[in-house]
Amino acid sequence: MSLLTRRRLLRRAALSATAAGAARTGLASTTAAGVAATTVALGGCDSPPERTTDPEPDRGLRFPDGFAWGAATSAYQIEGAAKEDGRGESVWDTFSRTPGRIRNGDTGDVAADHYHRYAQDLDLMRDLGLRSYRFSISWPRIQADGSGRPNQRGLDFYRRLVDGLHERDIAPMATLFHWDLPQALQDAGGWENRDTAERFAEYADVVFRALGDRVPVWLTVNEPKTVVQNGYIWGHHAPGIRDEDAAYLVAHHLQLAHGLAVQALRATGLTGRIGPALNLHPCYPADDSAESAAASRLHDGYENRLYLDSIFKGAYPQDVVDDLGPDSRMVRGVRDGDLKIISSPVDLLAVQYYTPIYVTGDGGTVRKWPTSEAEWQQIYPEGMYDILTRVTRDYGRVPITITENGLPCPDVPGPDGNVDDAGRVAFLRDHFAAAHRAVGDGVPLESYHVWSLLDNFEWAEGYEQRWGLVYVDYASQRRVLKRSAHWYRDVIRRNGL
Ligand code: FCB
Repeated sequence: MSLLTRRRLLRRAALSATAAGAARTGLASTTAAGVAATTVALGGCDSPPERTTDPEPDRGLRFPDGFAWGAATSAYQIEGAAKEDGRGESVWDTFSRTPGRIRNGDTGDVAADHYHRYAQDLDLMRDLGLRSYRFSISWPRIQADGSGRPNQRGLDFYRRLVDGLHERDIAPMATLFHWDLPQALQDAGGWENRDTAERFAEYADVVFRALGDRVPVWLTVNEPKTVVQNGYIWGHHAPGIRDEDAAYLVAHHLQLAHGLAVQALRATGLTGRIGPALNLHPCYPADDSAESAAASRLHDGYENRLYLDSIFKGAYPQDVVDDLGPDSRMVRGVRDGDLKIISSPVDLLAVQYYTPIYVTGDGGTVRKWPTSEAEWQQIYPEGMYDILTRVTRDYGRVPITITENGLPCPDVPGPDGNVDDAGRVAFLRDHFAAAHRAVGDGVPLESYHVWSLLDNFEWAEGYEQRWGLVYVDYASQRRVLKRSAHWYRDVIRRNGL
């Protein structure tokens, strides 16, 4: 495939990935006409309301004993307290304060005010019955400028959080990097600069030594692909760059950072487990043609194998390397020994699944299923089964945790104060059932984290999209358990559906 075709492919994918952005710019979305919308009933948030207190009929689908049901968040999206206790600036502070970048001009300055309300949020988690909580650590809270002496007040906050989880019998799962790179490092070249990977390993070492006695599972880099695509190809995420050649060098350095952090944990002698957090997209040919099959295969290389083969096989996929070409900054940027670092053995793989991708013969993408409020998201629970079984088939029986899966809904409290997100309940139920089937077919899945615990700052969409099990009234910071939260509590009690 020529570079030109690939560019078009990426541009088309960009449109489908950011349809909210596309809507803003008046670009039409590409929906495949005539495809039966058999999942309509699954996804819409306008399904008829049911009473939050109604228990679901028992389907008899039980997960393995010890399966850990959880929920996920990330630091910039919920914490707020942007200027407190020695926190430095991150690329997302800069980006969200730049006019025109974020819907409604929203920023994460206050967000869900979790930095101040974490104790209340911990109680909510306990009330839900969560067994695992996946959160991220804000690098600029620990090192304001991304290097040097750690900020004890930042570490103390996460210490309190982790202790509070243990007190409530909830296992902490900490992500080291969920996109909030210290601005000072961005000023020095950000992820285009190989040194940033070294800085990341030093930061990781600080965090391991401060919290490692109480955190059993670490995740290194959240969705490197999203930084590559949204941050460096399409530019609608921080740092807002549009440079495809730079983007793939960034992909390499993010993976190097991952590998160095794995090695840093091993060097401490701590027993905690560690792995990458990858958003994987099952790619399917849009039709029966040989062209679609070939284009879909290459698309899969860019979406999935670029991040899986490197970590689990110690090599970048050859079709992607060939497609990038020998002159690409990435191919030139890989040094001897890098892939050995990147493929340092991990203990688990964190999978984040939201949507499938259908690829046409000319490298474009089309939609086949109804989308959610996030128009890049097609609702297709079967994709969860496909990606889980595929990973196990192609990369071996590495333990898997689902660290994100969820749906945005236009949630509004009703006259009785309840938030009736029946669409989210249906979405989660169908995805849980798909995961259950994958477990039955041999996938070593050990936990499932719904995105998200709380409504939060959804990056370029600001506060407009609500992804939480718990509604946040941003004016008062009051929390309301949505219908889905009540339902999820029953799922957890039953350990299944
Ligand atoms: C994922 C991000 C997470 C959230 C969800 C909706 O790509 O990791 O922070 O924005 O999408």
